Amino acid sequence: MAQFILSLPLWQLIRTLGIVSYVLITIGISLGLIYTFPWWNAARKADAFEVHTFFTNTGMLLGILHGIITVIDPYMPFSWSEVLVPFTAQHSPILNGLGTLAAYSLLLIIFTSDIRHLLARKVWHLMHLLSYPVFVMSFIHGYFVGTDTGTLGWMYLISVLIVLILTGIRVALVRAPKTNTAPHS
Ligand code: HEM
Repeated sequence: MAQFILSLPLWQLIRTLGIVSYVLITIGISLGLIYTFPWWNAARKADAFEVHTFFTNTGMLLGILHGIITVIDPYMPFSWSEVLVPFTAQHSPILNGLGTLAAYSLLLIIFTSDIRHLLARKVWHLMHLLSYPVFVMSFIHGYFVGTDTGTLGWMYLISVLIVLILTGIRVALVRAPKTNTAPHS
């Protein structure tokens, strides 16, 4: 079994999982933002929430798998402590530390969402706001440490634009004065 795993193209697998994880997290965060927009009906909103959860959870799992495989990869192996303790890696400690912090923050966001019914809304919301740093950390980590950035610069650009635009719309909607739709008596 160990022989089989070591015969896999692990370096390519690390890179592919990193990129797929980043894309899924970007889509998950974008759907989280879109989900808060006021033009959904209840059924669609529930569906959007399911899809949002699916993308963020899968992105987190693939991101963690991507980090774990760096330990068994013989090309540039990381120790468990380098992966688990942020900013202790021999290679690019800051950039790899951001990957570890992004994974921990995602775990915290997803865990606090799962036990949301036990938490004050403010606490859950505060944890959920970590999604923005998660995106920034994943972007800096992937863009600056990745081998494939040269060919995938467009993908990073599109992802940043999408999240910036949706965040702008979200902020504008929150700041917009509420119109009173109650019928006049
Ligand atoms: C959710 C968390 C994470 C995300 C979204 C993520 C995403 C990415 C992305 C997009 C790349 C670029 C791949 C490429 O261009 O080929 C990458 C590369 C890399 N990541 Fe992560 N990562 C995460 C966590 C981690 C962790 C915990 C570690 C372990 C320290 C790690 C180690 C690496 C390494 C060593 C590379 C360089 C691979 C290469 O040379 O291309 N990442 N990551």
